[in-house]
Amino acid sequence: MFKDLENNIIMKISIQSSPVEHIAADALAVLCFEVAEGQTPSDPAPANQNGWLTDLRASGEFSGKLYETAIRHRPAGLAAKRLVLVGGGKVDKFSPVEARRVAGALVRSLKAKGVKSLALWLDSTQAMEANILAAAEGALIGAWEPDKHKSDIKKDSAKAIDTFQVAVPELRPELESALDRGRIIGEAQNFTRDLVNEPANLLTPAKLADAARNMASEQGLEIEVLDREAMGQLGMGSLLGVAMGSDEPPYLIAVKYKPTAAQGGETQLAYVGKGVTFDTGGLSIKPSEGMERMKYDMAGAAAVLGAMQAIAQLKPPVPITAYIPTVENMINGGAQRPGDIVTAMGGKTIEVLNTDAEGRLILADAITYAKHKGATHIVDAATLTGAIGIALGHHNIGAFTNDQDFCDRLIASTKTAGEKTWQLPMDDEYKEYLKSAFADIPNIGGRYGGSITAAWFLREFADPTPWVHLDIAATAWLDEGKSWISKGPTGVAVRSFIQLALDWK
Ligand code: BES
Ligand code: ZN
Ligand code: ZN
Repeated sequence: MFKDLENNIIMKISIQSSPVEHIAADALAVLCFEVAEGQTPSDPAPANQNGWLTDLRASGEFSGKLYETAIRHRPAGLAAKRLVLVGGGKVDKFSPVEARRVAGALVRSLKAKGVKSLALWLDSTQAMEANILAAAEGALIGAWEPDKHKSDIKKDSAKAIDTFQVAVPELRPELESALDRGRIIGEAQNFTRDLVNEPANLLTPAKLADAARNMASEQGLEIEVLDREAMGQLGMGSLLGVAMGSDEPPYLIAVKYKPTAAQGGETQLAYVGKGVTFDTGGLSIKPSEGMERMKYDMAGAAAVLGAMQAIAQLKPPVPITAYIPTVENMINGGAQRPGDIVTAMGGKTIEVLNTDAEGRLILADAITYAKHKGATHIVDAATLTGAIGIALGHHNIGAFTNDQDFCDRLIASTKTAGEKTWQLPMDDEYKEYLKSAFADIPNIGGRYGGSITAAWFLREFADPTPWVHLDIAATAWLDEGKSWISKGPTGVAVRSFIQLALDWK
């Protein structure tokens, strides 16, 4: 078993071309698709030994539906110990999205059966860069388990696949590089998921800053961490107000990537991630049911850090700085009260009507700081509002912007990355929901359009710099696992952040 420094199990990923009969592995998987009535199946040669697949299809035991599997031991004429048929769904609908999930579902179902080495055979129509990248990513995503803190005996991750090979008819350098990129991006998502999964007693703002320092030094990125005093000198009263109720000191982490040859003129991309390591709600306290999940209120911060880890290796030609405001929203005797008025960096005063709307308070100062440092384009990711799940359910990130062109570019990148984003409106009328008689702006609007008023609050600090806000509150955590991914943190937005950087022109 391969392990990293933290004792996590690492899956070795490789690509090879050898005749399908010669592939040695505990399990060799081939894709089989659904067959519409009247059509003849075009199944890969080894799949139908002695009419096995014909029988499976006739009996309804296997039809090629997505993620379905059928396993044959000691397949005749193959070096592999098992032949696994895996459903690819409808052949004309097969895309990298399915390739990613099929690889994840294979890893998850086969590791539970004790398989240690897995090969996925792709034929000449399937063996293209985007599928191979997605398969490598998907295998890593599927391998990850949230059980780091279980004692060994009960661990799901103890049943791990050690090697994952993609087998193709003909090896080309582009395919090898695609696999490599898939590995880098998959590992980045798992790094993000590790951070999000850590409980708040073990991942305090200080520990998040340590994790950022470690990542930055491993990847050769610059890092600067502002402490309470430095933030006070910059006038970040909005962020510091949230931190008042915790004994854990707050930080503003800045991780910088500089390309060797920058393109795109004067562009300075800023990626901002909400890093609330635990959100009790403060004095506007949350109900106890489900509060334990509020350890994931730093999923935006973790996504930004995961993206920076990959960006350092993929080296896109655009400078990017990640800004991570990190605090714990707690309730000691110093906690901020509803009605308190704080002054944000830049001088705007904010009436804190609800201490549970803390994400926007820390992001306001981080966004202002990013502008102060020269950001020309800002994207933030934040588990900002419960309301985004009411609006969009769990399948789309909510996007908000003050610059439609920039938002269109970002949404195009999220599509390439296989993530779903849905833009919500930012008409001026919604801004009217944010009115305070006592300060420049309140930190909450009324009952309606909660995700939009949250975004408008941020926009008051982002304008006029082109900015997109991604509300990931409903997409960063899965309450139930799926066949291709475990329950818990999803690593959402990591791929989109990376892709935006790679697509930058
Ligand atoms: N961290 C929460 C948002 C959240 C809710 C994330 C559920 C993940 C799951 C955020 O700080 C918050 O509490 N927002 C409030 C805003 C309200 C007070 C206007 C909310 O959504 O209830
Ligand atoms: Zn909150
Ligand atoms: Zn929060």
